[in-house]
Amino acid sequence: MDSINGKNQKRDKWGSKLGFILAAAGSAVGLGNLWKFPYSAGANGGGAFVMIYFLFLITIGFPLMLAAITLGRKTQLSAVGAYRSIKKKWAFVGGLGVICGFFILAMYSTVGGWVIYYVIKALTGGLSSKDPQVLGKIFGGFITSPGISVAYQGLFLLLTLLIVLKGISSGIERASKIMMPALFVIMVIIAIRALTLEGAYEGIKFLLVPDFSKINMSVIVNALGQVFFSLSIGMGVMVTYGSYFDRESNLLEAGTSIPMLDTIVAILAGLATLPAVFALGFEASAGPGLMFVTLPAVFSNMAFGNVFCILFFILVLFAALTSSISMLEVCVSYFVDEKNGDRIKSSIIIAIVIFMMGVPATLSMGPWSDLTILGNLNFFDFYDKLTSNILLTSGGLLLSIFVGWVWGADKAIEEIERNGIKFKLAPIWKFLIKFIVPPAVSIVLFNSFKEVITSIM
Ligand code: PHE
Repeated sequence: MDSINGKNQKRDKWGSKLGFILAAAGSAVGLGNLWKFPYSAGANGGGAFVMIYFLFLITIGFPLMLAAITLGRKTQLSAVGAYRSIKKKWAFVGGLGVICGFFILAMYSTVGGWVIYYVIKALTGGLSSKDPQVLGKIFGGFITSPGISVAYQGLFLLLTLLIVLKGISSGIERASKIMMPALFVIMVIIAIRALTLEGAYEGIKFLLVPDFSKINMSVIVNALGQVFFSLSIGMGVMVTYGSYFDRESNLLEAGTSIPMLDTIVAILAGLATLPAVFALGFEASAGPGLMFVTLPAVFSNMAFGNVFCILFFILVLFAALTSSISMLEVCVSYFVDEKNGDRIKSSIIIAIVIFMMGVPATLSMGPWSDLTILGNLNFFDFYDKLTSNILLTSGGLLLSIFVGWVWGADKAIEEIERNGIKFKLAPIWKFLIKFIVPPAVSIVLFNSFKEVITSIM
């Protein structure tokens, strides 16, 4: 596929069914699974969070994924155009996604920068320690030094920009075919090692056995936010990617395999990280640094640990880039399609703006940690909450209302059932998308707003 280009160009199709699935799965599988899922679970009560995550995944995530790619394939347009072509007034939902894209990539690039730094550290053998204190210092020392961390953040955005400028098809699609399975295999190996560490059992229990007393509104809000973030749902990415999906191919297969793959990787990351937290003396609620401090200790406990460490961080970087390009694409295609912008110029300007927005997020780990907005949130946390818990969630809510009620669930089912494909679960999907997703997401969203408001008061 060529880049997501201007409207008067003939739309390219994904080279193959696998191509589409790989690209969409590439967007879904990223730091959300490898980095965020384990630490969110760790900070939100472990099994309780995972249980609610699953509940939301099945009742909200799966139905919305199918809704998004169906809308995209039907209209053959990226998000803004897709909504507009069915109902003019709804184009703003696509616009909301573009705004979300700026914030989410600003924050994502902070962590992407950490990953690049860790690739280099791993290559130079600088991560081989079993000592939580030493590993904590390496991470802490890096994220708090403003010059270096901002430079790496910029480097991550530069890589993202270069890939988007070159068009995402050939190179990335081809590389995905190797990198994604490789990531999967290496995650299995790391998880096995972590699970066989002495004392790992406590971690497995923590991750998989829900402690119902830990469930509160904030756990629920974060679990839903994590579903949206991890599946790349709620900002138009999947609508846009769906628009490149071949008219003849099977939306059901794509709509189920992407969330499944995404979830397997998240669980593997949880199984690699949390048992090790308990076995090796780390802190489950350590927050965003969890993966960066815990996994190097696992590698140090492995045969050929150095090699695994290097491979792992390279694969994380790849997974992060296949997600970040999808975020940047949403922003770029808006300015190219809607504002007639020049693709190269728009991409560069947008990347620079996102970089500038990202600097405060990066600095909030160090010199700007005391600078808070909206009560007690530093910039990084603010971007994180704003995107996962408010913007993506709103986007998901609007998507369900749009597909369920405005465009009409029956029309969507018709699109899914083209070419004689039978959608056996259609009545359930229709019920979920019309009657469950909108009220459920509204309730959680209402509470996200309430959380924000009470934190300012
Ligand atoms: N799903 C990606 C991840 O898990 C993040 C993402 C969110 C990408 C929203 C695109 C849009 O890392």
